[in-house]
Amino acid sequence: MTELPSTESAQSYDELVSAARGLLGGQVHPIANAANLAALIYHSVPDVNWVGFYFVEDGELIVGPFQGQPACVRIEMGHGVCGTAAASGRTLRVDDVQDFEGHIACDPVSRSEIVIPLKQRGSVIGVLDIDSPVPGRFSPDDEAGFERLAQVYLDSLPG
Ligand code: SME
Repeated sequence: MTELPSTESAQSYDELVSAARGLLGGQVHPIANAANLAALIYHSVPDVNWVGFYFVEDGELIVGPFQGQPACVRIEMGHGVCGTAAASGRTLRVDDVQDFEGHIACDPVSRSEIVIPLKQRGSVIGVLDIDSPVPGRFSPDDEAGFERLAQVYLDSLPG
């Protein structure tokens, strides 16, 4: 594989999105593509300690492919940052998880977090969750970049 792009600006999210399209292009397996996208983000974006997916199954979130420390397996809809984003269908960017009531601390090192709901035909099928040890790590540019990357994942899914 060629050198991974690094994201210091919106410009580099263009490169990361292209790299993601290249990596996922032609592959339709949902787990394989989630695994590769999590690895790509984890190794390209500075100051992140957990990058991965939770998928909706039987009305709750179950952990999917990720990079980082072992994580909690199940999250109830409406609970934690992930369950809140999944229930609302809106991206949630938390500058300091210690101030977020109900935050679920899987890795105590995490200080800020961004969760992007994955919507297929109007329903939330899961979330992309990214944690950082740095408070306030994620900017609106990061939010826009991660939403584009989540869309590359959704576009890769079969039908
Ligand atoms: N902090 C998340 C739980 C998942 S971990 O960050 C991997 C939450 O509050 O939902």
